Amino acid sequence: MEKLIIEGGVKLEGEVRISGAKNAALPLIAATLLAPGEHVLKNVPDLRDTRTMLKLLENLGVRSQRNGDVLKIDSTDLESGEAPYDLVKTMRASVLVLGPLLARLGRARVSLPGGCAIGARPINYHINGLELLGVTCDLEGGYVDATIDGRMKGNTIYFDLPSVTGTENLLMAAVQAEGTTVIKNAAREPEVGNLVDMLNGMGARIEGRDTDRLTIHGVENLNPANCAIIPDRIETGTYLIAIAATGGEGVVTHCNPSHLPSLLEKLRATGLRIEETESTITVRQPNGSATPGPLKGTDITTSPYPGYPTDLQAQFMALMTLASGISAVHETIFENRFMHVAELQRLGAKIKVDGHTAVVDGCSMNGLSGARVMATDLRASSSLVIAGLAASGRTEISRIYHLERGYEGLVDKLTALGARVWKEQE
Ligand code: EPZ
Repeated sequence: MEKLIIEGGVKLEGEVRISGAKNAALPLIAATLLAPGEHVLKNVPDLRDTRTMLKLLENLGVRSQRNGDVLKIDSTDLESGEAPYDLVKTMRASVLVLGPLLARLGRARVSLPGGCAIGARPINYHINGLELLGVTCDLEGGYVDATIDGRMKGNTIYFDLPSVTGTENLLMAAVQAEGTTVIKNAAREPEVGNLVDMLNGMGARIEGRDTDRLTIHGVENLNPANCAIIPDRIETGTYLIAIAATGGEGVVTHCNPSHLPSLLEKLRATGLRIEETESTITVRQPNGSATPGPLKGTDITTSPYPGYPTDLQAQFMALMTLASGISAVHETIFENRFMHVAELQRLGAKIKVDGHTAVVDGCSMNGLSGARVMATDLRASSSLVIAGLAASGRTEISRIYHLERGYEGLVDKLTALGARVWKEQE
């Protein structure tokens, strides 16, 4: 077990390069199960979660080889249709093999993901959608046992909430179904768009990219893929907020500003100066003076894309603990996504939680002081890193395996921006 040590109070400055998106890499790696042959995926981040997905595929008989950020995956010898509990319990996104295994083998036995720190997170939409495509799903012994005789049959599927992995799983299930499938109230996240591009590149016929209505005309066969993973918009947002929280200025490169409409507007509302090019975002302190004043308290409400991303809620809250005045943070996607509040309070933050709303009383840039804190989930832990970088003195964050699930080369990237941060054994 490792912990992260941060000597805070240093302004972050310079450039940081963004990696490929975790939440695009996971479904795109799973999609390689759909067609035999060698697939090539580029800009693939090397993370604990992508390694778990590759281990899951290896379990199924799939070979893969990494060369830098390029992955070659050959699913010709796919044999097993089982995703075991021991792997699925470490990463819920393992459920993404359900659709492609059914399309390829006509059977899949996938462990139910179980509980999660941020909410119940059931997969009923995934199962209901598969049943509408003609699949028989038996839930037994903590597993979904799913089978289909022959090809799935196109149908219309409506989501009560635009589930991201639900949309991705059913897209992968429906591309080789007989007839046409329509997914209504589909998720519009850029990661879904990345998957649509990959599948259409493999020979699928999907219409409605970036809209809440996806139409999938089933095809008989698909070819191996050759495509790139989009930049990680959550990693992008995390570094922009980290730089801003320390009173610094910097450029985030190899990102896609158009994937962060709501965040960039909220950062501007705090007074920060944000400049965009096609693949970079520059963040500067308000009014350009050497001693910039505190940021303005700003409210956020998380919602499905293009609304404010729930995966950047904790990081923005950390920034608001340093602002002047009151900010309200409303979390509408997950029922238990304020685990970071108690840890931020240990650093001196003033936050009150009432149901799905946290009210932050900002300390105007000079109130946080270092302490020992504990990571509880991936994004909560990144908010503790941000607060630790801004705080005076030393912060120690334990259970940092959460961070390694979704941030590639975090210590190196922060050090390159001037941070004093390192890992130590617990
Ligand atoms: C994806 O999770 C992301 N994970 C999450 O990122 C992200 O927080 C989430 O979308 C929302 O943006 C990946 O892409 C791998 P949902 P997902 O299905 O697909 C309810 C991170 O930090 N729901 O869109 O699991 C659900 O409980 C992670 O990188 C059902 O009720 O989320 C939630 O309230 C954390 N039944 C809402 O829908 C279902 O069958 C949205 O969840 C499915 C979802």
